[in-house]
Amino acid sequence: MNAVFPGSFDPITSGHMDVLTRAAKIFDRVTVTVMHNARKQGRHLFTLEERMDILRGATTHLPNVRVDTFGGLLVDYMAHQEPGSVILRGLRAVSDYEYELQIAHLNRQIGDAETVFIMAATRWSFVSSSMIREIASYGGDVSEMVPRASAAALRRRHAEAYAEREAEKHEHSETPQREQPGH
Ligand code: PNS
Repeated sequence: MNAVFPGSFDPITSGHMDVLTRAAKIFDRVTVTVMHNARKQGRHLFTLEERMDILRGATTHLPNVRVDTFGGLLVDYMAHQEPGSVILRGLRAVSDYEYELQIAHLNRQIGDAETVFIMAATRWSFVSSSMIREIASYGGDVSEMVPRASAAALRRRHAEAYAEREAEKHEHSETPQREQPGH
């Protein structure tokens, strides 16, 4: 039996890695699929290609895990690219459950797709990609909560943002002040 682990992975966290590593022991093959939506383009910290590169870097030690991408309905991907596979989702806390329950029912309703859940280890229950992005954007240390590939990419992005801000400051300080009208 194969599984598809869909998500935004912006970027992949240790919580995702925990679910994925355990799933790789249960399923013959797990495909991590970065779902993308043209309308959401630009709202991510990392581009689709960057997120896929990070995922590949984080999963090289898992031989039965591959990385893929799809733009559209997950049930269409399941039907056409992964027939017979189940959808894999991680649950961190009860708060995830309501949302995931709704999506799992909808995916079964519209595409007869089955969803299997793996509970993320409690030590990752508070970790989310959005919080990781927030902390990293201020230069905070997230290395304990993400795989190395994500930590390196976050550090790079932070350094780029810093350099951009510095360049802007420099540009402004060099802009000649407009002369005040004479009295
Ligand atoms: O990592 P995320 O953001 O929790 O992942 C959510 C995702 C991408 C799995 C979900 O939004 C999704 O399946 N999107 C594809 C579009 C789709 O099939 N929508 C119908 C179910 S909401």
